[in-house]
Amino acid sequence: MRKTQVVIVGGGPSGLLLSQLLARHGVESLVLEKHTRAHVEGRIRAGLLESGTTELLSEAGVGAKMKREGLVHHGFLLAFAGRTHRIDLQGLAGRSVVVYGQTEIQKDLGDAAGEQVVWEARDVSIQGFEGRQPSVSYTKDGTTRTIACDFIAGCDGYHGVSRASVPPDRIAQYERVYPFGWLGILAEVPPVNDELIYANHPRGFALCSMRSRSRSRYYVQCPLTEKVEDWPDERFWGELKTRLPVDFAERLTTGPSIEKSIAPLRSFIAEPMRFGRLFLAGDAAHIVPPTGAKGLNLAAADVGVLYEGLAEYYRTGSERLLEEYSARALARVWKASRFSWWFTTLMHRIPEKGLDEALASKLQLAELDYLSQSEAASRAVAENYVGLPFAKA
Ligand code: APR
Ligand code: PHB
Repeated sequence: MRKTQVVIVGGGPSGLLLSQLLARHGVESLVLEKHTRAHVEGRIRAGLLESGTTELLSEAGVGAKMKREGLVHHGFLLAFAGRTHRIDLQGLAGRSVVVYGQTEIQKDLGDAAGEQVVWEARDVSIQGFEGRQPSVSYTKDGTTRTIACDFIAGCDGYHGVSRASVPPDRIAQYERVYPFGWLGILAEVPPVNDELIYANHPRGFALCSMRSRSRSRYYVQCPLTEKVEDWPDERFWGELKTRLPVDFAERLTTGPSIEKSIAPLRSFIAEPMRFGRLFLAGDAAHIVPPTGAKGLNLAAADVGVLYEGLAEYYRTGSERLLEEYSARALARVWKASRFSWWFTTLMHRIPEKGLDEALASKLQLAELDYLSQSEAASRAVAENYVGLPFAKA
């Protein structure tokens, strides 16, 4: 039977980043990814990196292109009631963020990975993680193989096999599905503003983001009952303009969309994140709604804690850091989930039974007005937005 030190299930950003960091510390791993590389790299996701994430990518040896092409943002705008309030990230929290698409990160990691990844590994199943000799089986090109390993990293996203393999009585799961979605488009047009704009509007939330100085990413909140086909480009641009303050709406450059999709919003956390020799990381353990772009950053934070634990184990034989993994990762996960939930609740029109929408919207405007007048409140937003500190061992 083939053997490796760590089998990583899932070749998304979590799995590939973990594999790179382990390799840098002399730990051998094998990544098993269900889909083709092209499929994984074709997924359009968020694109905002906390400084802790950029540092980790550099440490993994995949930071060069990000440093060259990423756009450093020192602040962002909150738009509401026809006006804007700028959150000065650098001034209030002493740090900034980098705009660099997850799609690019996935490619950079894929280029670095090489032979450590088995793409199109089907029917992955994991065994024995409660004991000392776990193994993972998969099928590729009609042949089934089993790999013996010391540890399994479950980096296989929300729908993966890792979390699903844990006996239900060993895991607690917390979930909220929001009653609306985000319709997003990508267009080859210059962004309306050089910083992101998060807009609260009576017709719903809107977000102006970007991938580069010539490529924009825009979102509008939409009902989950609507389909992409219901949203020809003209309808999207019209709706976006309505939801932005007039001066931005007038400046908006529109153009044909090159991608358009609707994503549901969910908050989900599984506890704990370790089961014997199986460790969950990234979307396999938690999902945040995209407001504030914490998904990838949280995944990177998990991986940062996990690789240190594994590296220490192989360096010294000590399992101390691995034993602390779940508690350290979850402490940060809950705080980032809280921020994502709060920011979502502040900015969206929330159609829900038992909730007076007019009252909810008045309270949102009062909170936004308070934020615009209180440096303390703005600082709390800035601190969370740039990312809470990585838990250090
Ligand atoms: N076997 C092998 N691979 C699997 C399996 C399986 N049974 N199930 C899922 N996978 C793969 C998926 O095809 C996917 O490529 O696991 C990968 C998980 O990747 P992501 O869902 O991207 O999750 P993660 O790597 O944790 O990335 C964190 O940050 O911006 C957020 O949600 C966004 O992708 C995001 C994330
Ligand atoms: C994005 O660019 O896709 C993005 C940016 C910021 C967010 C969410 C998404 O808060």
